[in-house]
Amino acid sequence: MEKVRRLIFILLLVGICSPALGEKWTASVVKSLEAVVGSCVVLPCSFNYPGTLLPTSRLRGIWHLSKEDTKIVYSEDNTKVLDSFKGRTNMLGKLGDKNCTLEITDVKDHDNGPFCFRIELVKTHDNKETTEKYSFVDECAELKMQRDPPEPELFQSNTAVQGKPYAVTCSVRHTCPSHVPVFTWSRGSKDDVIHIQKPVLSGIWETQSIMVFIPEEKDDHTQITCTAAFNGGKVKSRSIQLNVKRIGNIYHIIIPVAVAIGTAVIFGVICIAVMKKYKLSRMS
Ligand SMILES: *[C@@H]1O[C@H](CO)[C@@H](O)[C@H](O)[C@H]1NC(C)=O
Repeated sequence: MEKVRRLIFILLLVGICSPALGEKWTASVVKSLEAVVGSCVVLPCSFNYPGTLLPTSRLRGIWHLSKEDTKIVYSEDNTKVLDSFKGRTNMLGKLGDKNCTLEITDVKDHDNGPFCFRIELVKTHDNKETTEKYSFVDECAELKMQRDPPEPELFQSNTAVQGKPYAVTCSVRHTCPSHVPVFTWSRGSKDDVIHIQKPVLSGIWETQSIMVFIPEEKDDHTQITCTAAFNGGKVKSRSIQLNVKRIGNIYHIIIPVAVAIGTAVIFGVICIAVMKKYKLSRMS
């Protein structure tokens, strides 16, 4: 019993102290992400450091190529950035929120990385400024280059019925949430379209365009095309054929059925009349 009590006491102590122990130099970066050449890519990143929380003005975030922290791809001080990355990198994350998300625009096919984050904490002690630095070289992001963006996918709802609202969804996955693909449709107006943006996996996003319209008889056997224009100018499209069920068809069914029932009733009445007459003539 004494042992159990002691164990509980130790566990409680660890529980109380763990927030303080938990403050370490850590970073969470997506290790591998696809990027389309010519487009943009956003590398999600968050980090932590020991000690008290510092405002953005006391933090300097740097992205560099792996192992070589002199090869800087992002720094607030643009003069330190490699020429091949100048003007193409952006810190989207707020460092004060421990967010180090990086955007690379106009992706080149040699931008494969690995990209590593470094944080510098600027502290003042007795009017003296000191800097603590940490490079998270075990948490670097690599990019897999894609020559072309993927083709969008098209999904249809049930069956298109003449005169009833009908939806077609066009969807594409990408890694550039700061400049999402722009969709256009071969029919309908912009008011008929709903846009949805949702995260799929860390760093991967899905953008959807849902077109709702009312099909008419003349839309049967026509094509509907969705075109996705990606950041950087590349364009991909996909088409499907519409099959519209006509409301008019229902009268083609009702009329013959009514005629058949009518005929049967008349025939039945005649039959009964004939039978009755036959019975009467036999009885007399
Ligand atoms: C980090 O910043 C990016 C860009 O502003 C944002 O999209 C993302 O949600 C942030 N991440 C967290 C964990 O807050």
